Amino acid sequence: MRIDIITVLPELLKSPFESSILKRAIDKGLVNVHLHNLREYASGSYRQVDDYQFGGGAGMVLMIEPIDKCISELKSERSYNEIIYLTPDGETLNQGIANQLSLHENLILLCGHYKGVDQRVRDVLITREISIGDYVLSGGELAAAILSDAVIRLLPGVLNDETSALTDTFQDNLLAPPVYTRPAEYKGYNVPEVLLSGNTKKIEEWREKTALQRTRDRRPDFLR
Ligand code: ADE
Repeated sequence: MRIDIITVLPELLKSPFESSILKRAIDKGLVNVHLHNLREYASGSYRQVDDYQFGGGAGMVLMIEPIDKCISELKSERSYNEIIYLTPDGETLNQGIANQLSLHENLILLCGHYKGVDQRVRDVLITREISIGDYVLSGGELAAAILSDAVIRLLPGVLNDETSALTDTFQDNLLAPPVYTRPAEYKGYNVPEVLLSGNTKKIEEWREKTALQRTRDRRPDFLR
């Protein structure tokens, strides 16, 4: 998979890809992530990427021209499955969307800033709009990092234990069951006996039961 991220703040997006699972996925060649500084596609000595909105009002708007230039250049090199704009008014990201996107070959992620982007970008250049939740961030960069993480960890070979993404919370519309590690007893707090029993069938039943209970308690909407 290849992910191209278009941003006015590429430095903000470096570190998420430089450690842990995402770094390993990149090092193994399972994903290529390319950051594109929108300013490099802007014209004039000021390399202006934003301007005041027509009709007045506070806040700057990202201009269509540099975005169009950047996307056109990328599209001339390969075809993209989706060109995604990260925006609080997009469809809310969930595990199903992450699963869907993980099956694609090439994605472009466009990060908004200030008041957002010229509407014509959304009308003409973008194929999908995604929000990471009902709150407003200062820009789309952190949202793009979150979306990338959710997708990349699902690519075959990224996680050490292939089954571990399958047992994640939200796969199957169930929250994951509680987990414990050593010591078995800490300050009088004990690990459930069944997990120490070595009886794999009983352990599996316990996990199913507690996952269901947790989902009922915390996210009953998943069970409907
Ligand atoms: N940009 C600003 N806020 C955002 C959000 N909640 N999701 C995606 N992109 C955003």
